[in-house]
Amino acid sequence: MSSTNQVFIAVIGAGGVGKCFLSQLQGLAARKPSPKLSLAYISTSRKALYNDDYAAIDLNNVVDTLATSSKSPLALPKVVDYLAAAPSKVILVDNTSSQDVAELYPLALSRGISIVTPNKKAFSGSYKLWQDIFTAASSSGAKVYHESSVGAGLPVISSLKDLIETGDKVTKIEGVFSGTMSFLFNSFAPTSGQGGKWSAEVKKAQSLGYTEPDPRDDLNGLDVARKLTILARLAGLPVESPESFPVQSLIPKELESCSSGDEFLEKLPAFDSQMEEVKAEAEKAGKVVRFVGSIDVPSKSVKVGLEQFDASHPIAALKGSDNIINFYTERYGSNPLIIQGAGAGGDVTAMGVTSDLIKVLGQIA
Ligand SMILES: NC(=O)c1ccc[n+]([C@@H]2O[C@H](COP(=O)([O-])OP(=O)(O)OC[C@H]3O[C@@H](n4cnc5c(N)ncnc54)[C@H](OP(=O)(O)O)[C@@H]3O)[C@@H](O)[C@H]2O)c1
Repeated sequence: MSSTNQVFIAVIGAGGVGKCFLSQLQGLAARKPSPKLSLAYISTSRKALYNDDYAAIDLNNVVDTLATSSKSPLALPKVVDYLAAAPSKVILVDNTSSQDVAELYPLALSRGISIVTPNKKAFSGSYKLWQDIFTAASSSGAKVYHESSVGAGLPVISSLKDLIETGDKVTKIEGVFSGTMSFLFNSFAPTSGQGGKWSAEVKKAQSLGYTEPDPRDDLNGLDVARKLTILARLAGLPVESPESFPVQSLIPKELESCSSGDEFLEKLPAFDSQMEEVKAEAEKAGKVVRFVGSIDVPSKSVKVGLEQFDASHPIAALKGSDNIINFYTERYGSNPLIIQGAGAGGDVTAMGVTSDLIKVLGQIA
């Protein structure tokens, strides 16, 4: 089979997003006879499936087959060796949130393996890793796409790239980048009505599965800071790391040392008055408070934290756990280009991964 007629796919990670991706891959493979998409490797952190002769792994019930596999995953550099020796082009799909897998990208790309991923770690870690990734890709010609690393399947990264590549000047990017923060503030400080107590809203968000098991992992602002790091770098700012700009944490100092998320939630009501003050101050100004990230390109300033908005502002009027991203550019003038919708969930996140895969296929096959 000639190289353009077959592309090997390797998948690391088969959790919430990975399972949805595998189902979308199966549909894509059935709809798209050429190039033939062959699953050559799949693993979680404990199990793997692969064949030494690269024979395709059946996509039917692959998650169940993987769960009962007796093979362990190859060590990460060995995964690269195995894939680089495949008899056709390879796309590696990283559906983990692993830093170790992220650090493998420069090696994989330098050996001609393209990458698509929703994993933020590689693009929001050190600026050196970012440079190593894109240098490796440009010297080998392998492709790297990560749409779902910001706003899940929402076309945030592709839109930003389109704006820049067509010659528009992006002046400011501002938005709500966390489904958790969106849910919390839309119910704590709604544009009409009272809203609940802060601690009660955090507890509710956790019980609905909108927060990480320990809500402090959302409230520390780091997840939003990682997404801002990615967008700022794409907009041309050499941001060193997500710790290199101001990020407001919503964890009271006294609760930083709680030994568990449960202990944190138990003690949080004692700090409700702090958040009530923030809400009351915004109300006095006729506004509502929201947790936003913003990038001001001309002044090279990036920040994450609480801001006040008029009730009529699109950021204030957001519903549920949606994300919203506003791009202010020369062409769009004072009315920004707005992208809004679900910023989390297996199916929509996997959609971003699958559409990246389709883009790579269009360029390598
Ligand atoms: N879920 C969303 O709504 C959403 C939205 C946007 C972006 N994302 C991003 O999508 C990625 C996947 O999220 P998820 O919700 O699917 O996570 P998840 O349910 O925790 O699944 C992670 C998967 O990765 C595997 N894994 C972790 N470390 C690994 C390693 N070193 N080697 C091999 N496999 C490894 C896990 O295997 P084990 O179970 O064996 O550990 C598991 O199968 C993350 O980067 C996340 O930030 C998710």
